[in-house]
Amino acid sequence: MSLKEICPILHFADLGDERGKLVVIEGGQAIPFEIKRVFYIYGSDAMVVRGQHANRESEFVLINVAGKSKVRITDGSDEFIVELDKPMMGVYIPRMLWKDMYDFSPDSVLLVLASTHYSEGEYIRDYNDYLKEITRSQS
Ligand code: TYD
Repeated sequence: MSLKEICPILHFADLGDERGKLVVIEGGQAIPFEIKRVFYIYGSDAMVVRGQHANRESEFVLINVAGKSKVRITDGSDEFIVELDKPMMGVYIPRMLWKDMYDFSPDSVLLVLASTHYSEGEYIRDYNDYLKEITRSQS
């Protein structure tokens, strides 16, 4: 399967009306896990690259609820770049994929939904370690 299939773009229900927009995301329904943690990243400028890690356990959905940013996802060979620029779209990222977030607009608020509570031990923050781990798990 390609990364595009493994990391689908999700489209959330927009229940907006003449009073404004309302987007609903329900754990286990619109996204394929129960949400255990929510965090958001803002105030990162266009030169910053965030992420730069893989997670052994966590699955994520990334949504730019304001502004825009890009996420580059790789499994060490394929690469998939998504521009997040609408509050009603997100991208699902399963475990053990490397991700970088960058090109943040000044008004970017990047919302992240996670399937786990935070645990630093499940992060792989060195790209060479990541490549070694996925190679081991594939052999
Ligand atoms: P970091 O993983 O570098 O952020 P990102 O990759 O999403 O840009 O996290 C920055 C700091 O915040 C780091 O010291 C770990 C801490 N942190 C938590 O304590 N809990 C969390 O849920 C997250 C995402 C980070």
